[in-house]
Amino acid sequence: MKPITKRDALAGAAALAAGLAAALASKPAAAARPAIPLGSAAEIGSYRSDPRYRAALAQYCDVIVPMNDLKWEALRHDRARFDFSGADELVDFALAGGKALRGHTLLWGEALPPWAKTMTTRREAERELVRHIETVVDRYKGRIATWDVVNEAIAFDPKPGEPYRDTIWRRLLGPEHIEIAFRAAARVDPGARLVLNDFNFEEPHPGVAARRQIAIDIIRKLKDKGVPIHGLGMQAHLYAENPIDRHGLLQFMLDLGKLDVDVEITELDVIDWKLPADAMTRDRAAASLVSTYLQTIVEARPPRAIVTWGLSDRYTWINETFPRKDAAAARPLPLDADYKPKLMLHVLQRYRRAAA
Ligand code: G3I
Repeated sequence: MKPITKRDALAGAAALAAGLAAALASKPAAAARPAIPLGSAAEIGSYRSDPRYRAALAQYCDVIVPMNDLKWEALRHDRARFDFSGADELVDFALAGGKALRGHTLLWGEALPPWAKTMTTRREAERELVRHIETVVDRYKGRIATWDVVNEAIAFDPKPGEPYRDTIWRRLLGPEHIEIAFRAAARVDPGARLVLNDFNFEEPHPGVAARRQIAIDIIRKLKDKGVPIHGLGMQAHLYAENPIDRHGLLQFMLDLGKLDVDVEITELDVIDWKLPADAMTRDRAAASLVSTYLQTIVEARPPRAIVTWGLSDRYTWINETFPRKDAAAARPLPLDADYKPKLMLHVLQRYRRAAA
């Protein structure tokens, strides 16, 4: 073995130092996972009345979506004017806190003011829809980065030949109601991410598989016509007693990727009305279900954001819509009714941090 010269030793040390610096500078590819922003819907009444609610939104959220204040019902008490008071308050709060904003929603068959339900002709519906979208998107241009342009357009239980939900928009404008909405939003804010938002994509049922296929078909048609659509919003109101269709959901993610469409989780919560009353039992089941759901999606690629439909069990739509037989309060969200973190929060925060 030949003796090492001083020159060799210096050259070796330099190479070792260079290699170490390069290794420290670059995250190991396998472990690096992009951080996924976490967020929550914000309900204006709780926001105004509960300081702990506001503090939790400020502490835990990278993204805020006004729960109801950008819906027609809140904005359009009468046909002639727009009431942006609630939306402005939540948008200002989010931006002051450096948070991103999602807009929910420009076209939905529900949460319509009475006057909107009286529309009778295609011409009137298209005029009102386009005027609404142009006014609302223009007002928040550059501040609301992502819009649920169309919410819940897919039939709840699709029948052959009828993929769309029966709404006033579908009745008066036909299947093109979706395209009209996306084109109007893109015309006003070409920089916004435009999303088709819907639910019931997660479970192993033929009806759910049909809904997934309809979502793919709608998106493919829009893409083929050059209509700007950037993402599918999956509401993810998960039923604690039902399994996740891991294979079907993963294939769905891959199919969306082939259409160059991202996914965002937009209304995540866990409906636990069929679970035993014990809180820890329910919290463990909910955290496990959310973990399985998110792992399946991330296996294809990371969602753009994970947004829960509220933060604390103190305020949730689920108690009213899915009341438990034992009348115990639902436990659907990352914080309990006293704003204490639950197991679900720890699951979500694993996705919020980029892997070390
Ligand atoms: O603000 C009025 C108040 O002035 C009035 O006194 C009160 C009683 O009539 O109603 C209040 O408005 C209610 C609003 O929530 C704010 O609390 C509406 O009636 C009520 O219909 C509305 O419910 C919301 C529902 O969407 C319909 O817009 C829920 O809070 C909200 O969680 C729910 O969210 C939906 C998503 O938008 C779409 N995906 C499903 C999800 C759950 O249903």
